Amino acid sequence: MDLMVTILVALALSAGRCSDAYTRNDFPTGFAFGSAISAYQWEGAVDQDGKKPSVWDTFVHSRNLDNGDITCDGYHKYKEDVQLMVDTGLDALRFSISWSRLIPNGRGPVNPEGLQFYKNFIQELVSHGTEPHVTLYHDDHPQDLEDEYGGWTDRRMIQDFTAYADVCFREFGSQVKFWTTINEANIFIIGGYVGGDTPPGRCSTCLTGNSSTEPYMVAHNLLLAHASASRLYRQKYKDLQGGSVGFSFFAVGFTPLASSKDDQVAIERFKAFFFGWMLGPLTYGDYPEEMKRIVGTRLPVFSKEESEQVKGSSDFIGVIHYIAATSIKPQPSLSGDPPDFSSDLGVSVIYAGNFTDLDYAVAPWAMEGVLEYMKQTYGNPPIYILENGKPLKQDLELQQNDTPRVEFLDAYIGAVLKAVRNGSDTRGFFVWSFMDLYELLSGYEYSFGLYSVNFSDPHRKRSPKLSAHWYSAFLKGNTTTSLGSQGITQLQSNLSSSI
Ligand SMILES: *[C@@H]1O[C@H](CO)[C@@H](O)[C@H](O)[C@H]1NC(C)=O
Ligand SMILES: *[C@@H]1O[C@H](CO)[C@@H](O)[C@H](O)[C@H]1NC(C)=O
Ligand SMILES: *[C@@H]1O[C@H](CO)[C@@H](O)[C@H](O)[C@H]1NC(C)=O
Ligand SMILES: *[C@@H]1O[C@H](CO)[C@@H](O)[C@H](O)[C@H]1NC(C)=O
Ligand SMILES: *[C@@H]1O[C@H](CO)[C@@H](O)[C@H](O)[C@H]1NC(C)=O
Ligand SMILES: *[C@@H]1O[C@H](CO)[C@@H](O)[C@H](O)[C@H]1NC(C)=O
Repeated sequence: MDLMVTILVALALSAGRCSDAYTRNDFPTGFAFGSAISAYQWEGAVDQDGKKPSVWDTFVHSRNLDNGDITCDGYHKYKEDVQLMVDTGLDALRFSISWSRLIPNGRGPVNPEGLQFYKNFIQELVSHGTEPHVTLYHDDHPQDLEDEYGGWTDRRMIQDFTAYADVCFREFGSQVKFWTTINEANIFIIGGYVGGDTPPGRCSTCLTGNSSTEPYMVAHNLLLAHASASRLYRQKYKDLQGGSVGFSFFAVGFTPLASSKDDQVAIERFKAFFFGWMLGPLTYGDYPEEMKRIVGTRLPVFSKEESEQVKGSSDFIGVIHYIAATSIKPQPSLSGDPPDFSSDLGVSVIYAGNFTDLDYAVAPWAMEGVLEYMKQTYGNPPIYILENGKPLKQDLELQQNDTPRVEFLDAYIGAVLKAVRNGSDTRGFFVWSFMDLYELLSGYEYSFGLYSVNFSDPHRKRSPKLSAHWYSAFLKGNTTTSLGSQGITQLQSNLSSSI
């Protein structure tokens, strides 16, 4: 990192720590504060009541990794968890539906027990006044579709996904107003089809896959599947149900600073590959020119009709934001023979904090920057921040006194407020995650929860951490943040008897 960037980042960090105090009443009326979980990571009961495996089940079992077989056992404990959400004061819960629980073979008959589970769960939320934000696809498509035709690498997924979405809109749409089709599309692709280290585990050096071509095909099919489901919703359900359909992506914060022309080029590439890949088609109906030039014939082409269908198909954008790039530099050493996503991108990135160690730096300027950039470059779309939060190593002391998480959330919610005050159309914020759960990259080693879960306890007992108390007090309007370190110490001692 060069000196200039180092100094500016340091300034930005220290500025972030002494942000102005705020309360939730400073946010516009109707701004939703919630928290999030996902099916595979929270439900457990992976082979119960007719559920069949998804690629995520297959991925972890074939590699002997930690798994979500039981995890929080949310499938059986959902009533207790909804009560905790209500006690905490959440306006909304973001969760996902397991495709292979609802339609075990991927297409065809609906599993009545799966259907009943989601009806019960949604009813429980709605009857307690908690708004459901449902994600249809969270990295877990039915294994049968992967086996039959290679899942998202094949266009047949578009039709099967649309039929699955149709079942969800029809069955749950009278109570669900917020639908996200695809969870963090770009990171799903980079993990699952470039490096192959997350489900479905495809890459050039994996058992199957092609890191040169598949990432772009999969992105194309995800965008078309989203657009197809969104069109179906508008044609068949929107008038009756009045909801909205969005698409989500992983937004890496970036510093706009460039000390040279080459750096400027690298930053532009980074923006094209991380933002434009998804937001270009959704906003303007096509991939960025930069990507077309670099990826060439490996980048699929939208027909005129497809382009029109994808453009404007997202009523809102789901932003998933955790990390910030502090330095983006050209990396000509990547040979690109054969070319793959990394050599196409052609930049080296340094992240704030220690990304390998999941020690994300508190860099609220990056959240503000992402929202500002989307406002200025992509027509200020309605945004829900569907995930933001801080991982900490599983550790009893930190489990209860997760002060770094409180500081992180405090700073990031403050950054969202600043962006909103400057015109960003951001409408909601969801803490990842409501409770400790099975994590995609780290199993049970690191966790993000507001509540801890005792995974050695057959009853999977949940306990509030400091962050749960802090978020709850914020949601109930009783505290102002930024608390500062003194305030956090006070909150800690005020609450110590109740923990
Ligand atoms: C990936 O696909 C490209 C284009 O079809 C082909 O040239 C290349 O050999 C494939 N790579 C692998 C690892 O299969
Ligand atoms: C990140 O953390 C890992 C594990 O603790 C450590 O080995 C590595 O040196 C750290 N990297 C940096 C840049 O601090
Ligand atoms: C606030 O918005 C204006 C207009 O879009 C923009 O020019 C300005 O840079 C923004 N300020 C910050 C701090 O992002
Ligand atoms: C977790 O549960 C196990 C088994 O019930 C129990 O022995 C242990 O003390 C619990 N751990 C904590 C931190 O409560
Ligand atoms: C917040 O204030 C309300 C009303 O004054 C009170 O009923 C509630 O117990 C307070 N909540 C917390 C978490 O202190
Ligand atoms: C802690 O309790 C004291 C006394 O009730 C109160 O004045 C103070 O605001 C509380 N601090 C926080 C951070 O909740």
